[in-house]
Amino acid sequence: AEKWVHMVTAQTPTNIAVIKYWGKRDETLILPVNDSISVTLDPDHLCTITTVAVSPSFDRDRMWLNGKEISLSGGRFQSCLREIRSRASDVEDEENGIKIAKKDWEKLHLHIASYNNFPTAAGLASSAAGLACLVFSLAKLMNVKEDQSKLSAIARQGSGSACRSLYGGFVKWIMGKDEDGRDSLAVQLADEKHWDDLVIIIAVVSSRQKETSSTTGMRETVETSLLLKHRAKEIVPKRILKMEEAIKNRDFTSFAQLTCADSNQFHAVCLDTSPPIFYMNDTSHRIISIVEKWNRSEGTPQVAYTFDAGPNAVMIARDRKAATLLLQRLLFYFPPNSDTDLNNYIVGDKSILQ
Ligand code: PMV
Repeated sequence: AEKWVHMVTAQTPTNIAVIKYWGKRDETLILPVNDSISVTLDPDHLCTITTVAVSPSFDRDRMWLNGKEISLSGGRFQSCLREIRSRASDVEDEENGIKIAKKDWEKLHLHIASYNNFPTAAGLASSAAGLACLVFSLAKLMNVKEDQSKLSAIARQGSGSACRSLYGGFVKWIMGKDEDGRDSLAVQLADEKHWDDLVIIIAVVSSRQKETSSTTGMRETVETSLLLKHRAKEIVPKRILKMEEAIKNRDFTSFAQLTCADSNQFHAVCLDTSPPIFYMNDTSHRIISIVEKWNRSEGTPQVAYTFDAGPNAVMIARDRKAATLLLQRLLFYFPPNSDTDLNNYIVGDKSILQ
């Protein structure tokens, strides 16, 4: 057999929603019940690094996550691989004398090695970075000539929130109207330089894997929660407009109010699910109280908090000074070796640079 290997490595940061996606109207295509908005984190702290390789000596597609082989047979991986393969072009790597014709991609197999530099499946959007990175690196490997938004619609089929990790800065996932999902994709609202005062601090409350996956959780919420219907129809559309304004004007007061309210409503919708879903724990609740009290005593919000499908707190401070004061407060209330389960902090020192 021929001996060559052609490979590409890419790094993709995770993103944290400030207006949450929760609930699908189509589970196979992953079409959401509402728009969402996120901020992309700086990749030094929370990112996935993926190397994709192709060689005529590989006999099947294989993937390793954090060094352990995982199955690629799931429908979501298969959708991403199929969509990318169908858009492959000729590849010419002159330096190594490798030529791959468009038609060869159908029979060639891939090896994919992916690493997260943060806890996997602990509600820190590991799937977002992972699937976005997979799609991005495969598109580079196969010389796919589509823009980022088109790629985002492919990443969406791997994990909904992944579509938002194809851009830095502030990103909106437009839910779209089409039945085939072609218009359900991500767009950039503002780039990473737009609001670089913000500092993101993540309190890793628990690095254990979450108990209810977002897929199962969303399905149960869609089936049983009346609050979700109200949220998706009446609340989120208005919040999206307000959040876009807040971001455009760098209006931290409005940004923080919307971010906290939306996180709390997402967890309320989880509680409104039958059986109820609990993602936050006592430590999460204490963090909310500490931040709320502080914001109130200052008169204007200093820090916004948001929680995804897990107990970890993502806090966005208005500036460096507020971030330092926040860390001091957290360390005061949760001293090292205290009996809480808060184990470490990740500080995004480059704020939201991609
Ligand atoms: O893309 P998924 O299936 O991992 O779902 C993500 C859901 C939340 O993180 C809770 C919210 C969001 O918009 O990212």
